Amino acid sequence: MIRLEQVEKHYRRGREIVRALDGVSLEVPRGKLALLRGPSGSGKTTLINLCAGLTLPTRGNVFAGQECVNGLDGRRRTALRAQRIAVVFQMFHLIPYLTAIENVLLPMLARRPDDCRARALELMDALQLRHRTSHRPHEMSAGERQRCALARALLHRPEIILADEPTGNLDEESARLVLDMIDASRAEGATVLLVSHHPVNHICPDLEFTLRDGHLQ
Ligand SMILES: Nc1ncnc2c1ncn2[C@@H]1O[C@H](COP(=O)(O)OP(=O)(O)OP(=O)(O)O)[C@@H](O)[C@H]1O
Ligand SMILES: [Mg+2]
Repeated sequence: MIRLEQVEKHYRRGREIVRALDGVSLEVPRGKLALLRGPSGSGKTTLINLCAGLTLPTRGNVFAGQECVNGLDGRRRTALRAQRIAVVFQMFHLIPYLTAIENVLLPMLARRPDDCRARALELMDALQLRHRTSHRPHEMSAGERQRCALARALLHRPEIILADEPTGNLDEESARLVLDMIDASRAEGATVLLVSHHPVNHICPDLEFTLRDGHLQ
């Protein structure tokens, strides 16, 4: 479950205050997939980052499952992401000097990557990346990097998936692979918040939210 209660997020730039989110309340029940839409600058990435505990709200509360994300210290928020939340970023954030499969295995490198290699290869297969396992990010196309970032996010079978424009760089076929994989995670019980400008015809969201200027419509 993901829940926001009267969340405000203000960014201060000198004297100017940007109200990126202004009193947003929403809930995505466990095992449901919510689509988040809205024009550029409406606050979608800000909302995803708050759910992931990457930033803190100015006011209000953010819950991931029973956990109040903004009530945790930085170390616990990091642990929450490492164990239970997957974030697929609009800008992949792959590690440039690691190969594709090392990037996918990154969440587990501190543990025992050998145990997870089979899962990593299975995900890379499903995302048509098997032939790119030893490539580094600069040796992959933007679409391949995006799929690699998704495989990394799903490696630890997260309870919550936060995906910010995961199909932004993809052609129709790859977009379908990515959305199907996210949909399969919902079928396994994950709660999903998906940001997309593009049509998501072949998956059927349980809920849809639209942001405009930091407000839900
Ligand atoms: N660190 C920051 N400091 C100041 N303003 C910011 C900061 N980050 C975002 N903003 C502003 O907050 C608003 C919301 O930004 P956000 O990135 O959440 O939009 P978005 O809906 O994800 O847009 P896009 O569809 O282009 O990705 C924008 O007006 C943006 O300029
Ligand atoms: Mg964004």
